[in-house]
Amino acid sequence: MEYLEIRGGSPLKGEVCIQGSKNAALPILSAVILHRGTTVLRNCPKIIDVLYMLEILKDFGCRISWEREALIIDATCLCASQVAECYGRQMRSSIMLLGSLLGRMKEASVSYPGGCVIGARPIDIHLAALKKLGAIFLEEPAGLKAVCCHPTGTTLKLPFPSVGATENVILLAALAEGTTCLENAAREPEIEELCRFLNSMGARICGAGTSNLVITGVKKLHDTDFTIMPDRIVAGTYMLMTAATGGDVLLRNVPIEQLSSVQKILRQMGAKQETGEHTLRIQSQGRPDCVPNLSTAPYPGFPTDLQSPLLAALSLAQGTSVIEETIFEARFKIVEDLRHMGAKIQIENQKAIIEGTEELTPTDLIARELRGGAALVIAAAAAKGTSRVHQYHYIARGYENIIRDLQSLGIVIQST
Ligand code: UD1
Repeated sequence: MEYLEIRGGSPLKGEVCIQGSKNAALPILSAVILHRGTTVLRNCPKIIDVLYMLEILKDFGCRISWEREALIIDATCLCASQVAECYGRQMRSSIMLLGSLLGRMKEASVSYPGGCVIGARPIDIHLAALKKLGAIFLEEPAGLKAVCCHPTGTTLKLPFPSVGATENVILLAALAEGTTCLENAAREPEIEELCRFLNSMGARICGAGTSNLVITGVKKLHDTDFTIMPDRIVAGTYMLMTAATGGDVLLRNVPIEQLSSVQKILRQMGAKQETGEHTLRIQSQGRPDCVPNLSTAPYPGFPTDLQSPLLAALSLAQGTSVIEETIFEARFKIVEDLRHMGAKIQIENQKAIIEGTEELTPTDLIARELRGGAALVIAAAAAKGTSRVHQYHYIARGYENIIRDLQSLGIVIQST
């Protein structure tokens, strides 16, 4: 699976069912080890990041099996609290295991996640918050060691509503002694989902979906059977793809209430949308209209994960669009590739100024990260002729089967 070959330039037509959410599945898989028993997860996406996480859980001593589409994890006996370096360095989300390992094993050892192409991504907020709950960190050259003999509830306020730091606090506080009040928590739906999951196991978390969480520690959790919600970013990717290429697409299993910021942008782009019960039909013709002014923002604002897909779609818009990236400082990496296709984009500090062009020229493109890679697929689907998107493995980190999905929308696409 080295590259995707895409024959673009035709309007999309067909239906896609949206996969389970990556950013909900990863913290939930981390949370599973808090329970000395069995968890059944349904609708867990079979993506590379999930498969890496399952390997890490196996190293800890979890017994894992798939029965049809249900993922069964038995975390009764854990024998290790160290994330192997080969996974830790590859997958930033392994940092999310800090909170749950400390909660269950009272110790944890992970390698530094390091920077990545979308930005430096420090973990200072995670560490400061976990310290407040009693964790002690030993920063060694090879990685981070932590112990937390008596996780204890407290009141704390995050300096920025970091998604990962909010999740780590929840994971450590769930079994801590006493009550934790977390202020300025992130409000992303994936955090609400993590709380819903933990509460289904007997945790006591109030305020999910708001900036103030109250987590009353419990002594132990119980078995659960839980269905993971659909992925709003995958749905948003296909919405923007339809706006870029034109067509008539029905998305099924869509978390519509989580997509209002994206729906608003699609309206500005001139796409028609019809919502049903968990379905969304998008119709679009010709070039999209421009979006003169948009900034990414924490939820419920426009998600940074859809900034690159939007940038690709607006390369073809009528008029000039401006997108400001406020979350990750280095998230305009696809601009070079889009320029090779004929897009007219200028970067000024954290803003991209996009003068829409009538068409994009097909070419060879290189995915350098997950969402940027998906954005290049959008550009390739819109460009008349055959494009290749190299380093497809980045896209497979978050899209379960983009080939199957796009084929069901009538796109000629294959991997080589
Ligand atoms: C999560 C999502 C990612 C999404 C992002 C923002 C997962 C697996 N990933 O990433 O897809 O793009 O939320 O919605 O759920 N920061 C610090 N110090 C910290 C933590 C964060 O400075 O300790 C900064 C980051 O560098 C970044 C910003 O805060 O600039 C947002 O990061 P955060 O909300 O933590 O995102 P992630 O949890 O890494």
